[in-house]
Amino acid sequence: MATTTLQLDAKTIETVKATVPVLAQHGEAITKHFYKRMFAAHPELLNVFNQSNQKQGSQPKALANTVYAAAQYIDNLEAIIPVVKQIAHKHRSLEIKPEQYPIVGKYLLIAIKEVLGDAATDEIIDAWGKAYGVIADVFIQVEREMYEEAAGLNGGWNGFRDFVVEKKVKESDVITSFYLKAKDGKTISDFKPGQYISIRLTIPGEEYTHIRQYSLSDAPGKDYYRISTKREANKDVPDGVVSNYLHDSINEGDVVELTAPAGDFVLNMDQTEPVVLISGGVGLTPMISMLNTLVEKQPERQVTFIHAAINSNFHAMHDHVKELANNHDNVNYYVCYDYPTEEDRANNVFDKEGYIDLAYLQSILKDNSADFYFCGPVPFMKSIKQALIEWNVPEEKIHFEFFGPAQQLA
Ligand SMILES: Cc1cc2nc3c(=O)[nH]c(=O)nc-3n(C[C@H](O)[C@H](O)[C@H](O)COP(=O)(O)OP(=O)(O)OC[C@H]3O[C@@H](n4cnc5c(N)ncnc54)[C@H](O)[C@@H]3O)c2cc1C
Ligand code: HEM
Repeated sequence: MATTTLQLDAKTIETVKATVPVLAQHGEAITKHFYKRMFAAHPELLNVFNQSNQKQGSQPKALANTVYAAAQYIDNLEAIIPVVKQIAHKHRSLEIKPEQYPIVGKYLLIAIKEVLGDAATDEIIDAWGKAYGVIADVFIQVEREMYEEAAGLNGGWNGFRDFVVEKKVKESDVITSFYLKAKDGKTISDFKPGQYISIRLTIPGEEYTHIRQYSLSDAPGKDYYRISTKREANKDVPDGVVSNYLHDSINEGDVVELTAPAGDFVLNMDQTEPVVLISGGVGLTPMISMLNTLVEKQPERQVTFIHAAINSNFHAMHDHVKELANNHDNVNYYVCYDYPTEEDRANNVFDKEGYIDLAYLQSILKDNSADFYFCGPVPFMKSIKQALIEWNVPEEKIHFEFFGPAQQLA
């Protein structure tokens, strides 16, 4: 892509690059001001941003860090296109539009001025305004292509589309699947295994809508999308808004709104070499989609499915995966439980007690030549990534998905 960096003069580039460290140093203060001011002036954006992420600070940090990181590459934005694409998938899935970029830019500059005070000279503010404009243009261009692609697919669409819950199925003590069919009865677009949708809920009594992402948990090519959600109810913190509402109040026949499938964590079907799918807890959803697809579309390909759960009470879709492994010689299935119950021990339903580590991977896999896909809680993902790096698995064979704002793993 031809970026618009050339619009920036050398002095602007120099000023921006020289001040990145100062801004990064005040990163959190700036983003706190930024969101406070932006939501005060544009409360309609509270319909889009996840307020639980705001309270925990994970998303604000992600946005600001990306702006600073992009600014460091302001004279070579090509280098950050892969990162832009990953974020742009999320933006497209949330229906972020070009006209919203100047709003973010305006309040980012106001926040920089407020936090830096006199140190934020006119020259610095002017340079950052220009740099933000160039970075925003790159996002807008990448997202424009994604909107066109999503709408152009057979059965594709832009915006939020109504889906009816056709079936609600309990998968474990904490995970429930929802089978969703388009209310208009028309075709729904195919997706790539590993992709997610955004769901928008209007919850009675709540002032703003809530949007969350859920990975599609079945193979593409059906007349429904399936999502499988974990009820987020943890001690000492407020219950998760959307997951609990889905579990408690969304039933068969109800209508929810979805955007078209998105995401760059996708199964590479051009390859024939072995695939290893590793999941922790509800992180199994994209892996089940990949597994089901592999069995349907690449029946010769060697697949190892490794799942970690607390114990059988929390273990979703076990019978399904076991059946696939029993019926397909090329599918191997391993189960790891952190805290197996007495019954789990008596029934011999797991292969390993405790965490998945390198020694365990080496004990069940012939060698490290495979495409590795994994998803789960962040500490789980950190340890899997470290194990794979230690095993000299090349970077391009390591693929992972975050069920929240992306973070640094290793
Ligand atoms: C690409 C992608 C795919 C995903 N796929 C799936 C999937 O297949 N299945 C699935 O179940 N989830 C999936 N998720 C996660 C999902 O989008 C939601 O984040 C999840 O369901 C929690 O949403 P919620 O509204 O219930 O919780 P939220 O209200 O968003 O809260 C998030 C968490 O923070 C806690 N919390 C809330 N307020 C506070 C506070 N003040 N302080 C500390 N903690 C707090 C809550 O208890 C909860 O655990 C995916 C996410 C992404 C980004
Ligand atoms: C150049 C400008 C922007 C940058 C660098 C940026 C960066 C980011 C990043 C890094 C994330 C987290 C991605 C992830 O989940 O891993 C994100 C998410 C998000 N962005 Fe942006 N963004 C920009 C502009 C915008 C605009 C204009 C809007 C709309 C007003 C917006 C709305 C959102 C929302 C709603 C999320 C998800 C937040 C959540 O659910 O917690 N962003 N963005």
